[in-house]
Amino acid sequence: MTTNIEEELKQALRFVENSELGTKMSPLWEEMSKDFSFDRPSNLRDYSINREHDFSRVSRFYKFAKKIKFLSRNWIRVSNVFLNIINGVEKFYVSILSQLILGDSKASQRYSFDIYPLEAYEEHQKQVNIVSDYESYNSKNNIFFSHNNYKSYTYFHTLKKFINLENLESKNILEIGSGLFNFGTIVSKNLDRFSYYCIDLPDVALRGYLSAKENVDEHVELFLPHQLDAFKKSLSKKKVIFLIPSQLDNLDINIDFFINHESFSEMNIETVNDYLSKIKMRMTEGSHIFLVNRFSRLQSHSAKSFDYTNFLDYELDGFYKICFEVEKFRSFLPVQKDFPNVIFIGQKDSS
Ligand SMILES: C[S@@+](CC[C@H](N)C(=O)[O-])C[C@H]1O[C@@H](n2cnc3c(N)ncnc32)[C@H](O)[C@@H]1O
Repeated sequence: MTTNIEEELKQALRFVENSELGTKMSPLWEEMSKDFSFDRPSNLRDYSINREHDFSRVSRFYKFAKKIKFLSRNWIRVSNVFLNIINGVEKFYVSILSQLILGDSKASQRYSFDIYPLEAYEEHQKQVNIVSDYESYNSKNNIFFSHNNYKSYTYFHTLKKFINLENLESKNILEIGSGLFNFGTIVSKNLDRFSYYCIDLPDVALRGYLSAKENVDEHVELFLPHQLDAFKKSLSKKKVIFLIPSQLDNLDINIDFFINHESFSEMNIETVNDYLSKIKMRMTEGSHIFLVNRFSRLQSHSAKSFDYTNFLDYELDGFYKICFEVEKFRSFLPVQKDFPNVIFIGQKDSS
């Protein structure tokens, strides 16, 4: 750099340091912008234009560097063997602790505190006024804390913020991907009258039934996939049926409340929109839809895949938007916070 430029730069730096920034950096850029600092040498985060090394030198370097990487990969493999031993020893002692305190060596796994640390719940509760509501629901129904129960309760809490539960009384509720009926259990204890249709893959549908049997109140009548006729005839005030996807075509009902939580994001976009078109046909003006799904999700474990299911590709025309926001609880969970869920609550318009 010629002295002239150096001098000009010094002046410019003095000027910019003494001036207002005029914008707010995200915490991420607060960190990343340090890579452009003039206080130390920097590769400018590789943003710059290369006029130093021609491609043949770069590719020669790449070839040799790859060999070094190969060696370190083998070293990592050996280290992993030791890591596995350390993890095994940890697991052994944790299972003994679990046996001593919880009376079952595997009980502690149910809480998955490695993935969902207790602090995440505390942080969430500082921002969302949910504790008293959640605790009173649990104590009234003799349910204890679990991650899935808490998560589903946060969804229910959001639902109540936007929809008056009285508007969901005596209605047909349909949930696709209802899993182990976590959300449905909460709904079943908060409404006086409903017909609840759960649709899931065959094995999960049956497991959902078994889970419901253990957790819903005695007066809720439960049905299996082959009992659709009996379900239709039942005069129970509260009834739930677990169905498989093909049975959606056999349902000649109006859906008043449609639910899909963390399930459309597990499907290809074509499957999502196929479900949505079948659902929309059965929804009338004023009925509600409640979705909680990943904003964008890769459908493959392969890092090379481009097969995303994006929330913005869901065909939600015909729904008036009541709420569209980032789901809060997930943003307190390590790793998961990088892949946020969005919540969409909508109401069918006249179209
Ligand atoms: C991550 S689980 C969520 C379960 C539940 N909604 C919850 O929040 O606890 C995803 C659910 O979607 C279901 N699922 C995946 N693909 C499906 C499909 N094509 N049709 C119906 N359900 C599907 C799975 O069986 C599973 O129950």
